[in-house]
Order: sequence, then structure tokens, then C-alpha cells
Amino acid sequence: MHGPNLNLLGIREPDIYGRETLEAINLRLVATARAAGVKLDAFQSNHEGVLVDRVQQAKADGVGFIVLNPAAFTYSSIALRDALTAVQIPFIEVHLSNIHAREPWRAHSHFTAVAVGSVLGLGSRGYDLALEYAIARLTAR
Ligand code: DQA
Repeated sequence: MHGPNLNLLGIREPDIYGRETLEAINLRLVATARAAGVKLDAFQSNHEGVLVDRVQQAKADGVGFIVLNPAAFTYSSIALRDALTAVQIPFIEVHLSNIHAREPWRAHSHFTAVAVGSVLGLGSRGYDLALEYAIARLTAR
């Protein structure tokens, strides 16, 4: 699940966020999941309420794990955090950039304390690593 402006990956400040497009990242993640026998739905929105609705829908759909880059909502969205704690679906918080090495106001995330864990600063590899963890957890018996 990708938050606002991540649809612009590839052209958005590539020195910070890389040159890969969101579509390329999603295709790779879907392929990895499929090879592991896990279904992955990729979703991006620029709208807070749409993301909240999607998290609520995830519960109804029986989603077992979420990999989330809240993007700028990291710093503002109590609603999205509350949705995640409401549905009690475990999630990993991913940021392409190291939010602790940038402007001081980027360092505090509303999500970190309720996430299983977080992956920061590893570019799009962070999504792969989070997915690897999710797959291991979902397929463990
Ligand atoms: C981001 C970091 C945030 O500070 C920023 O608002 C984003 C992207 C990242 O992936 O590095 O939109 O979440």
C-alpha cells in the first residue's frame, strides 16, 4: 500500500527516491509473491480517506499482512494509523529514503510504534525485504 505522490516514483526527486517506477516495483513484488504462493494486491492513493477505506476493506477481504509506505501521511494521518490498529492486520512500514537523515520533521512517524517493524533508506529494496518477511510469516505453519 503506497501513499501520496508515490505514483510519481521514477520522476519524483530521483536522487532521493530512485528511478524505478511504482509500476515496476509492484510488478516485481507481485511476481515474488506469486512464486511463493501468496496473493499480493498493490494499491496506491493520494487520498487519506481512500487509504482508510482500503485498510477497512482489507479486513473484510481477509488480508493477512500489509506492507505500507504512508509517504507524507506518515506525519499527519492519525486516521490511517487508527484504521490499521482497528483492523489489527500486522504491517511493516517502508520508506525508500532514510527519514532520520533528512529534515528533522520527517523523523517522527505516527506508524512506527504500531508496526511490526520498519525498513528505511534502502530504496525500493525495502519493499522486497518487507515482502520476504511477510511471506515467511504468512506461510509459516
Ligand atoms: C517517503 C518519505 C516521506 O518523508 C515522504 O513524504 C514521502 C516518501 C519515503 O518513501 O522515503 O513521500 O515515505
